[in-house]
Amino acid sequence: MAQVHIERVSKIYSGTQRAVNDISIDIPDGEFVVLVGPSGCGKSTLLRMVAGLESITEGKVSIGDRVVNGVDPAERDIAMVFQNYALYPHMKVYDNMAYGLRNRGMPKAEIDRRVREAAKTLELEHLLERRPRELSGGQRQRVAMGRAIVRSPKVFLFDEPLSNLDAKLRGQMRVEIRNLQKRFGVTSIYVTHDQVEAMTLADTLVVMNNGVAEQIGSPLDVYERPASAFVAGFIGAPAMNLIEAVVEGDGRALAVGASRLAPFSHSPALEPGRPVTLGIRPEHLRRAHANEKADMDLVVSAAEILGADTLAHGRIAPGGTGAAPLIVRLPGNVRLETGARLPLVLEPGAAHLFDGETGRRIDLAEAAVAPQQAAMARA
Ligand SMILES: Nc1ncnc2c1ncn2[C@@H]1O[C@H](COP(=O)(O)OP(=O)(O)O)[C@@H](O)[C@H]1O
Ligand SMILES: [Mg+2]
Repeated sequence: MAQVHIERVSKIYSGTQRAVNDISIDIPDGEFVVLVGPSGCGKSTLLRMVAGLESITEGKVSIGDRVVNGVDPAERDIAMVFQNYALYPHMKVYDNMAYGLRNRGMPKAEIDRRVREAAKTLELEHLLERRPRELSGGQRQRVAMGRAIVRSPKVFLFDEPLSNLDAKLRGQMRVEIRNLQKRFGVTSIYVTHDQVEAMTLADTLVVMNNGVAEQIGSPLDVYERPASAFVAGFIGAPAMNLIEAVVEGDGRALAVGASRLAPFSHSPALEPGRPVTLGIRPEHLRRAHANEKADMDLVVSAAEILGADTLAHGRIAPGGTGAAPLIVRLPGNVRLETGARLPLVLEPGAAHLFDGETGRRIDLAEAAVAPQQAAMARA
């Protein structure tokens, strides 16, 4: 077992383009870290630098107390679990699990002890004589984990191991991987572009974009306090509504196209005229009760009926092509007419605000301009 330290690591494949740009992550012993982000953002490159399959252009990677920059992959005490599990089809389960140890010239009795112990923990004892094609997808995944486990690695590395499976099997495998990792307590780094997979597996999420770590935190932390508009739009399904707006009036109202919203009316004032992005999750809006004051109206253009929920699509009133698009998650029993005007209430404190230029989160407590400054801006 071991902690992993990734310290200011960058990767330049050629020229000056950085596939990974100055990333630092501290991974405590036994933790499950997920690197998540869109295709091409540098996840595999970072993982492969930890594995030793790519050279590290800048920075330092340590496993346990040892800096491994110059260490051969085979000497790093890591085990990689790939897509499709890469089992040998002609070999029995026992031999698939024993193969790597035999290659290293380990004594037969020790190999046998390790394989049987892993098989017991993984509930594979009754399957040791079978070949991979005689196993279910879940059993194959356990064999792949078993083959990694018998080597007593300090770190597991996973690169999109489930992306070729259908949705149902993927869901089952996710739970399986999570349980196995917890049982063995092996420090793990897992790469995926699937934000649902990332949210459900991770102790710690690293949200990557363009080679940069946009945010590192627990899944709930990232969901509740996204550090940037990119993270806000990437984590959560359906995605957070990101609405372009300009701070108006006394610094507590927002102009969104032709409408005016005041989701932060009790917060300190912002600088009038500042461009911002207002973030609202579809699940944080609800239909206003009769006689309740609405925060905004939605002009409905379509309803997506999902059974448990209905997603209302449309634009913020007054509607029309210039108005901001908005998606609202409503209970499944709500029926909506196209063109209807739906008064909406925003859950208190649920709105997010991002800088219109940098995309970084604006912390309202910190962002407040001094009162006299706001007064000057108004004058
Ligand atoms: N061997 C390579 N040589 C040159 N560029 C590469 C190589 N591998 C990956 N890249 C580039 O580095 C960037 C990150 O790739 P990758 O780490 O595979 O992303 P991800 O795994 O997040 O999809 C991409 O722009 C990709 O084209
Ligand atoms: Mg990849």
